[in-house]
Amino acid sequence: MFKLLETQMIVPNIHLVTLEAPAIASEIRPGQFVIVRAEEEGERIPLSVSDWDREKGTLTIIFMNVGNTTGKLASLRGGQNLPTVVGPLGNATEIEKFGTVLCLGGCYGIGSIFPIARGLKEKENKVITVIEARSSYLCYWEEKLEQVSDRIVSITRDGTKGYRGHVDRLPEIIKSLDEPVDRMIINGCTFLLKKGSDASRPLGIKTVVSLNPIMIDGTGMCGVCRVTVGGSTKFACVDGPDFDGHQVDWAELLQRRRTYMPEEVTSMRTSRCEEHVVKR
Ligand SMILES: Cc1cc2nc3c(=O)[nH]c(=O)nc-3n(C[C@H](O)[C@H](O)[C@H](O)COP(=O)(O)OP(=O)(O)OC[C@H]3O[C@@H](n4cnc5c(N)ncnc54)[C@H](O)[C@@H]3O)c2cc1C
Ligand code: FES
Repeated sequence: MFKLLETQMIVPNIHLVTLEAPAIASEIRPGQFVIVRAEEEGERIPLSVSDWDREKGTLTIIFMNVGNTTGKLASLRGGQNLPTVVGPLGNATEIEKFGTVLCLGGCYGIGSIFPIARGLKEKENKVITVIEARSSYLCYWEEKLEQVSDRIVSITRDGTKGYRGHVDRLPEIIKSLDEPVDRMIINGCTFLLKKGSDASRPLGIKTVVSLNPIMIDGTGMCGVCRVTVGGSTKFACVDGPDFDGHQVDWAELLQRRRTYMPEEVTSMRTSRCEEHVVKR
């Protein structure tokens, strides 16, 4: 059992949990993820680790409530337990002295880009962090990110903070910097990863994306997380989750992520009905 120490909704629909998992906390590196179950009979879902404290033996995860399992996770409170937390899984993000690195995070990726930015800063890179959100009220962890970044830039779709629009503003942002960007690293939803890679391709900036296909075991056994990168089949859980964003077959990934959409809708409706019946 993994005890939850803190649970809170940090901005609408985005939740933070801090839990006790000393064995994982002692090994985890930026870009890696865990697989969790919110309840004993529940499904397993992969979640990136957004921060950790090796001394206290804790992990912090930021997630978006999008369906059945994330909904259950969001309903848990400090003092309750998670039955399963497996990790660290996946390969750590490559962190070297690259020069100037642009870290782009949107939705849950604003959290998961934090340890990557911190690692890059420790390696003496110049770190430009770009936060992407629909509106200013959905931006979070700015102070935390400021501590590990040389500059923070926001893009909001409604223009309430920073640049107005989407990541198609990236070329302009990059142009406004004093020096060329040597690498871009993107964390967040598949749409952001794709749009960010599309924006950086004409600029010739190497772009690393943390892919989020559907996963089950997270150890290379089931094949569910199959993605095509540079024409080759890869399993995101063991070969990734980081890949070259300019080589990913995005159409296939977006289509595969929708495979179980009807079942996901049924699962959410059924579980909400069950909760209602139990409460009554
Ligand atoms: C390596 C990795 C790291 C991730 N890190 C985070 C994170 O830090 N925070 C966060 O909010 N989300 C993260 N995700 C996505 C997260 O796993 C899904 O949002 C979650 O599984 C949805 O489950 P659900 O039952 O609540 O929703 P569902 O209703 O089941 O699904 C909603 C959406 O999530 C996708 N999804 C469903 N099951 C899975 C699964 N087992 N694996 C991956 N995607 C799935 C579906 O394509 C669907 O579009 C990550 C995914 C991967 C692969
Ligand atoms: S999740 Fe099963 S092979 Fe990757």
